[in-house]
Amino acid sequence: MIWLWMHLFSWIVLLIVVLFAVFSRNGAGKLLKMIARICYMVAIISGIILLKYAWETSPVLAIVKAVLAIGLIGFCEIYFSRKKGVGNSIKALLVTATIVVGIIGFILAGGRPF
Ligand code: HEM
Repeated sequence: MIWLWMHLFSWIVLLIVVLFAVFSRNGAGKLLKMIARICYMVAIISGIILLKYAWETSPVLAIVKAVLAIGLIGFCEIYFSRKKGVGNSIKALLVTATIVVGIIGFILAGGRPF
């Protein structure tokens, strides 16, 4: 199913962008921010379409996943807006949050990536 592939791909790209932003000295440049925002849009549109299927099996987890994902998008944007003085614990939290949203997504998808 193309929507699941697009959703999975947007997570992989977003994770790479977050790792670059966290490990690069100057934080996230314009290009990284733009790529991240395209990932958000693809994830939200494909996520809403996937919600229809996930709703039948696990409505509660589907809502939790959607809320956490929107929270992650907000966290990314706050992080990207900060250039300096972001502590390592915040960086670790952002990477962990990106991975956790993905793991909850895999659980919701029945453990299968495609
Ligand atoms: C940055 C935001 C997001 C990320 C990083 C993300 C990540 C993921 C990942 C990695 C999966 C597993 C995909 C797979 O099994 O191949 C997934 C599944 C899912 N996501 Fe997201 N997601 C995001 C946003 C959203 C949003 C906004 C919604 C709903 C409005 C959503 C709804 C879902 C649903 C319903 C599934 C399960 C699909 C299925 O049942 O096969 N996601 N997500």
